[in-house]
Amino acid sequence: MSEVWDKKDYVDRYNDIYAPGEKELLAAADLLELNADDDLADLGCGKGDFIASALRLVRSVVGVDSSPHQIDEARRRFKAEPHVEILESSFQDFDPKGRSFTKVYTRDALHHISDADKAVFLKKVSSAMKPGGLFLLEDAIFDFPAADLDANWDALMAEAEKYYGEAWRTRKKEVTGYIRNEFPTGLPEIKKMAEAAGFKVLKTSRDCMFFHSLLLEKK
Ligand SMILES: C[S@@+](CC[C@H](N)C(=O)[O-])C[C@H]1O[C@@H](n2cnc3c(N)ncnc32)[C@H](O)[C@@H]1O
Repeated sequence: MSEVWDKKDYVDRYNDIYAPGEKELLAAADLLELNADDDLADLGCGKGDFIASALRLVRSVVGVDSSPHQIDEARRRFKAEPHVEILESSFQDFDPKGRSFTKVYTRDALHHISDADKAVFLKKVSSAMKPGGLFLLEDAIFDFPAADLDANWDALMAEAEKYYGEAWRTRKKEVTGYIRNEFPTGLPEIKKMAEAAGFKVLKTSRDCMFFHSLLLEKK
């Protein structure tokens, strides 16, 4: 885990200003076609916002996150829900231990691990999924190969300014920090990794030049 997620102040700030909105969460549940026969996993679940909007639609939910603060908050939030399990684990150490999922969701989390770790993790997730299962992967993913970041930097900064509007002034430093210092992937690379892990790419949606969603189907 990048150690910022060990710091309560950082976690609280993220949860305050970058957490997904209700509309976004409902759209994700819709895309995943969640239903009463589903066993859902939310990988990098944070404090559990997606779980909260999905838990009445599915049979069971497993939330996975490596931050003790996020885990505490999520466990507190769902303590009265016996069909929701919150696991403290990094993606690198994740062991499904025989669990099987029909639907998987991850938002804004995989860019915390390297592409080599993502490739291994996607294979682990795939092996825990039933054929035909759907995986919605939303993350910091560029339009272009990550190796071309410098060549695309000015265009990316111009688009980020438009995307964040007024908030760009206060967020520029941390957004550029995570783009430069963490592991956003390019669209061509993540598609290749997903296919190598046994998924078919059903749909790609572009939020902006540095954030995309992929709807994957387990083959
Ligand atoms: C940017 S937050 C996104 C949280 C939530 N999915 C959302 O959209 O609000 C990233 C989450 O990934 C978790 N995380 C970071 N590195 C991780 C790792 N290596 N393994 C598992 N979780 C990790 C953090 O603790 C944090 O909760």
